[in-house]
Amino acid sequence: MQTVRDGEGLAKALRAMRTAGETVALVPTMGALHEGHLALVAEAKRRADRVVVSIFVNPTQFNDPADLARYPREEEQDAVKLVAAGADLLWLPTAEQFYPDGYATTVSVKGISDRWEGAHRPGHFDGVATVVAKLFIAVMPDVAVFGEKDWQQLAVVRRMAADLGLPVNVVGLPTVRADDGLALSSRNSLLGSEERKAAVALAQSLNAAAAGIARGEAVGTALNQAIRTVKQAGFGPVDYLTYVDGATLEPLDGARSGGRLIAAAFLGKIRLIDNIRVILDTEVD
Ligand code: PAF
Repeated sequence: MQTVRDGEGLAKALRAMRTAGETVALVPTMGALHEGHLALVAEAKRRADRVVVSIFVNPTQFNDPADLARYPREEEQDAVKLVAAGADLLWLPTAEQFYPDGYATTVSVKGISDRWEGAHRPGHFDGVATVVAKLFIAVMPDVAVFGEKDWQQLAVVRRMAADLGLPVNVVGLPTVRADDGLALSSRNSLLGSEERKAAVALAQSLNAAAAGIARGEAVGTALNQAIRTVKQAGFGPVDYLTYVDGATLEPLDGARSGGRLIAAAFLGKIRLIDNIRVILDTEVD
């Protein structure tokens, strides 16, 4: 695996791939790689000849400076994991490279960014859309692979790529979970051991609410029960735990095909998010 840090090194490596007629997949990450990221790399390998992985802890998508400061950084271990996973090129841009003095451009995706994560983390999706647009423009991949754990992010990235006419196939991959059901996340490593045990309640409560809605329970009742469950397990503030249209992210007050449960809640200082599809009897999985 080749590692590049600057734009010139990236352009040269990409030129060699393109000259050889190879297709390119991009897996954008912020590092602290876990099995979920490695599944993205495996999917990228299935879909293209070459796999480029970017690691960049993007400051502009953190609305909380403490969250940015504590975000895990594990560059050396990440590189070892990526070699084992068969990535071809690791790109490690710097903040100075991406946002030099005088930088003034933001990509803002209206509508789909506004609710949920967007409402609770002001500026977050502007930061995501901007950095992913920059990554796409620099690499011009044929395909880019993202995890479905950040469901709203995936919708924002798809909208952004379509609106800007970037010719990239944006692929979402189902969330990879620990044996107990907790969605894998780089932030999980920041949980204490008791918090880690309690964290599973988020996925469990979403599963229980999904089963309730699927068997005809009122949506409000299922959501209230799920919120009670996570609080009883030791979670603090629940930013949202709600049922939405999976495509538009608009809230749903009754069971509907394509509906999804999405949630964000704090366990101590760590904010966890998760989502699952609600499969109704009338829907084919
Ligand atoms: O999901 C992430 O890790 C980040 O939001 C992304 C897409 C790499 C942009 O910084």
